[in-house]
Amino acid sequence: MRIVVLTGAGISAESGVPTFRDADGLWEGHRVEDVATPQAFAWQPDVVQAFYDTRRAALDAVDPNPAHRALARLEQALGKDLLLVTQNIDDLHERGGSTDVVHMHGSLRTALCTTCHQRSPVAEPLLADPPCPRCGHRTLRPDVVWFGELPHEMDRIHDALAEATHFVSIGTSGAVYPAAGFVQVARSAGAHTLELNLKPSEGTGYFHEARHGFAGELVPRWVDELLDR
Ligand code: APR
Repeated sequence: MRIVVLTGAGISAESGVPTFRDADGLWEGHRVEDVATPQAFAWQPDVVQAFYDTRRAALDAVDPNPAHRALARLEQALGKDLLLVTQNIDDLHERGGSTDVVHMHGSLRTALCTTCHQRSPVAEPLLADPPCPRCGHRTLRPDVVWFGELPHEMDRIHDALAEATHFVSIGTSGAVYPAAGFVQVARSAGAHTLELNLKPSEGTGYFHEARHGFAGELVPRWVDELLDR
């Protein structure tokens, strides 16, 4: 078995991290254009920095849930035969025990310097305009992939999708590409495809199988099944 797992905001919902497009989602309170584009950062950097500073600070008040921990168990069992790709910028997969996580949309825990283009752990709110620990310039931005920017590690992801025997999508609405297109890539490469989500996603029709419910219940059950098998 070579498995590619893709996760979205829904896997962290039961930990208390808001999703984007659900009723009380982040995009209900904020316009994407105001906080999640390079143009927004050029136009109102303080608003953007404050938005991500708030989300980063909120991470300290939440914990991984059984779905995160179940995927860490799967990693232990499968090693390199599992590729865990997340659209999430929280660190709950790592705090749940996963060691090799592809953050295709970046991370709240690191900052990116727009002068030396190096990443560094965030030590204080970026709204305070701290200097880059590498080059000293006060040009740090959130290390997040904004709309219109290229996601990370796309070659590694596509290589794994082409080899996958199983593709599993957990807690994502299938509203945002390129992640929303992974199911078709995996399926055309011969993988069995499974959706684990609270409700049918926009791409639910592309999956061989779909189970709907809470990730905190569905994911541990699916991992147990797989490991038993
Ligand atoms: N268990 C399982 N699924 C859940 C749960 C839960 N407890 N709670 C919500 N969901 C599902 C919702 O039904 C929805 O389909 O998770 C999905 C969350 O969808 P979005 O809010 O659209 O989040 P996501 O798919 O991760 O967004 C993709 O869009 O805004 C950008 O860059 C951002 O990475 C993000 C990308």
